[in-house]
Amino acid sequence: MTIHIGAQPGEIAETVLLPGDPYRARWAAENFLTDAKLVNEVRGMLGFTGTYKGNPVTIHGSGMGMPSLSIYANELIKDYGAKTLIRIGSCGAMQQHVNVRDVILAMTSSTLSTPSRGFFKELQYAPCADFKLLEAAAAAARSRDVPLHVGGIYSADVFYDERPDLNEQMTRHGVLAVEMEAAELYTVAARYGCRALAVLTVSDHLLTGDALPSEDRERSFGDMVEIALDAAFS
Ligand code: ADE
Repeated sequence: MTIHIGAQPGEIAETVLLPGDPYRARWAAENFLTDAKLVNEVRGMLGFTGTYKGNPVTIHGSGMGMPSLSIYANELIKDYGAKTLIRIGSCGAMQQHVNVRDVILAMTSSTLSTPSRGFFKELQYAPCADFKLLEAAAAAARSRDVPLHVGGIYSADVFYDERPDLNEQMTRHGVLAVEMEAAELYTVAARYGCRALAVLTVSDHLLTGDALPSEDRERSFGDMVEIALDAAFS
């Protein structure tokens, strides 16, 4: 057991999917895993371990934002031996050619700061996805006919952003979308020799104001779970 995770040793799989929302972790475990068992509920951050096509998998909430995700990623890796960590979550599109419902695979993520910032001092570290996972997730998305974009994203520190000028620069420089966790996941995973990827569904559009209707959210989330699971075990 760790400060934030109540699972017993051996109850966390080497492959971990990380939705931000703990209720999404429960939904994904109930719908995609076999014999899913609740292994953590400390602070309501639910984690489940089961199998997918015979392979052990944990689906664990990360919470919102990089400080929260950092706690879980550190403990899952250092205390429970997680080796492959895939964020499954939503993002806001920052390009006209990206639409609500599309899936984005984040090759890299820009940030103003991450909880790891202190390590790097003046260095601007470039967090990046594991290429094999990225390739496998792209193949899994194509095989499902899911509209897909692969490129850079932005991991923001604030949801209610007061810097429209910054978002404009992101758009101008080809950043596909904004979310709040991937950069720290990639950084922590790299530090410990683990594989990481963020698979994201576009839930809202910063340029058009479009938003994913709530009745479509479940299907889009399901596509992401399957893409992540197929990529992890391809
Ligand atoms: N996640 C989903 N939409 C987002 C947005 N617009 N900003 C930050 N994170 C998000």
